[in-house]
Amino acid sequence: MDLGIAGRKAIVCGASRGLGNAIANALAAEGVHLLMCARDRAVLDRAAGDIRSRFGVEVATVATDLSVPAGRTELLAACADPDILIHNGAWPADKPDYRRWTRADWDAALDAMMMAPIDLIRGVVEGMIERRFGRIVTVTSRFVKEPKLEHALSVSPRLGLAGYVGGLAREIAPHNVTINALLPGIFETETQRAYGRSLATAAGKPLDETWAARESTNAARRFGKPEEFASLCAWLCSAQAGFITGQNIVMDGGGYPGVL
Ligand SMILES: NC(=O)c1ccc[n+]([C@@H]2O[C@H](COP(=O)([O-])OP(=O)(O)OC[C@H]3O[C@@H](n4cnc5c(N)ncnc54)[C@H](OP(=O)(O)O)[C@@H]3O)[C@@H](O)[C@H]2O)c1
Repeated sequence: MDLGIAGRKAIVCGASRGLGNAIANALAAEGVHLLMCARDRAVLDRAAGDIRSRFGVEVATVATDLSVPAGRTELLAACADPDILIHNGAWPADKPDYRRWTRADWDAALDAMMMAPIDLIRGVVEGMIERRFGRIVTVTSRFVKEPKLEHALSVSPRLGLAGYVGGLAREIAPHNVTINALLPGIFETETQRAYGRSLATAAGKPLDETWAARESTNAARRFGKPEEFASLCAWLCSAQAGFITGQNIVMDGGGYPGVL
């Protein structure tokens, strides 16, 4: 299926590894030019070079920290008129005990997971409206639909973001600008592996056993592949996807038990 976006420009955040890198590859495969962002310049430039050589699209990079306002400004300055914006990549500080969360932890989480995407969206949406094409996707988490206390530092700002996205979606829909959130379940990325290792160490169990136990938490009984996630994201960015907006779409191998 031709997604009808060849020649368009996309900002992809968190594009050096994991889900964001898979999304950057999926868009490049459709002929989309990229501005890729992450903090570690060496890893980012390697990922960008790989995409350039495989797909022949234009790929620029900005190595910056999006959890602070200056990083968002720097990214927007590098590409003021994208057709596509993917916000992805933020992780909360690894602090599972809610009793120890401080005001500073909350401020950092809100900045990274709610204000960062809102600032980026505000920076690009007016241009998309003027050009009568825009596709915005925010990558959040399945826990937005099934909150767990130990993840509240990330779920709370992401639910705040969902409120903003839901309202904005209705405002911008008449201009062929859509905004949706993708809610991943467990996907096989390096960071997910590191998390699995930390769980195994904490439980004093072998990694294989912990990994298998985590796989069995969804109906498909496996981790998702980043390419599976990326192909849905690329479709949401397609010319054909103009009639779906304001949605929080779970992709988790059937783990979420609800109908709605
Ligand atoms: N994988 C899963 O199973 C899963 C499940 C639920 C939700 N999610 C969410 O999905 C997103 C992607 O997950 P992932 O597993 O693909 O993560 P990942 O492999 O750790 O990749 C994260 C990407 O974001 C970049 N990044 C992180 N913090 C950044 C910052 N402050 N500023 C700019 N770039 C930043 C990282 O590069 P640098 O480190 O070099 O900056 C990297 O490119 C995350 O927000 C995560 O919370 C993932």
